[in-house]
Amino acid sequence: MADDLKKGLEGVLVAESDLSSIDGDAGRLIYRGYPIEALAAGASFEEVLYLLWYGHLPDEGELAAFTEAMAAERSVDPAILETVRSLADAGEEPMAALRTATSMLSATEPEGEADAEDLEASLRKGRRITAKIPTVLAAFERYRQGEEPLDPDPALGLAENFLYLFTGEQPDPVAAETFDQALILHADHGLNASTFTSMVIASTMADVYSAITGGIGALSGPLHGGANQDVMEVLIEIDESDLEPRNWVEQATEEGRRIPGFGHRVYNVKDPRAKILRERSAELAEEGDSKWYDITTTLEAYLTDEKGLPEKGIAPNVDFYSGSVYYQLGIPIDMYTPIFAMSRSGGWIAHVLEYQRDNRLIRPRARYTGPEEQAFVPLQER
Ligand code: SDX
Repeated sequence: MADDLKKGLEGVLVAESDLSSIDGDAGRLIYRGYPIEALAAGASFEEVLYLLWYGHLPDEGELAAFTEAMAAERSVDPAILETVRSLADAGEEPMAALRTATSMLSATEPEGEADAEDLEASLRKGRRITAKIPTVLAAFERYRQGEEPLDPDPALGLAENFLYLFTGEQPDPVAAETFDQALILHADHGLNASTFTSMVIASTMADVYSAITGGIGALSGPLHGGANQDVMEVLIEIDESDLEPRNWVEQATEEGRRIPGFGHRVYNVKDPRAKILRERSAELAEEGDSKWYDITTTLEAYLTDEKGLPEKGIAPNVDFYSGSVYYQLGIPIDMYTPIFAMSRSGGWIAHVLEYQRDNRLIRPRARYTGPEEQAFVPLQER
């Protein structure tokens, strides 16, 4: 029996899915058959959401209707925004504020929707969640800057509208395109810990708000979505240290520190998303401050060429370059993981709906290793 216990469910197949496939040896990721490189270069985040949720890339008419429907769902109930304000005033972490606000959204479902539990209703609820997360996050940021939230602009796409709400300015085309690509890259990734969390919750036939709130909780951990914030904090630590980046990482690895953004449960080679984000980071570096890109590439070169981590199957993952990209877009570090959730809500919803279509309660077993047959002793005799 010992060899059939797979701690962390490593390598265990628990479902079939049409949504995304990862080849960890080839470093390949596809969404419903489309290579991530093609989607990042040629599609918008809205097209990718449509692909994940409806099963095919939209034509122009479908995309226009979908984009309009999503834009119409961006507003957030004032009572929830007041809670977001109080969380910002209390200094709450943005990821925790997002978890709380997302859970509250279920109380503002349109008349008759709240009790609807068919899959079509779940998709409408999921669409509302993905449409409202940008509004919640931008409002949180504006509140903690002492500003009032701006109203969403229905004329802008999801990525552009978020940057507008977040910064108060119309984003430049390069920033908007780069951010839209980052959302595409983070949208789905098989049964990662947060997606699987959402599926476990969905497998009890619980509602989509419970599933997405659980996904946000799982994503917040430093071994998962939280790594992008840790990467940027390491870059700043290096920049503020007296050591040159290469000497810093040599000393850090000699001290046994794990560099965040390296290593992955599935990829044994460089994450294809990291390759694309490295290119975006290089472009932003050319226009702005190349310091962060330079430090990141120095770390990669040392860990790859001198430490030889890839020979052990440890290579850059999606978080390794997203830090320097978001930093160069002027996004605060503690917003990186919430932005990951903004995008991944698309994948969570797609997996929840796909799994519930052919549902099976997820309920694994544990091998009991505690004592057997304990004789009960009443309290007064213990
Ligand atoms: C994401 O699953 C997904 O798809 C996730 C994700 C998605 O899109 O949803 O891709 C997003 O979460 C990316 C990963 C972000 N996390 C990090 O960057 C944190 C740093 N990486 C790790 O802690 C680790 O690689 C995990 C947690 C991501 C994966 O861990 P595993 O599969 O449980 O592997 P492990 O911890 O057992 O490590 C295996 C070996 C160990 O060496 P040995 O002890 O066997 O000698 O790899 C080493 C580890 O020491 N290792 C590292 C390392 N990460 C793992 N060594 C140096 N630096 C690192 N960063």
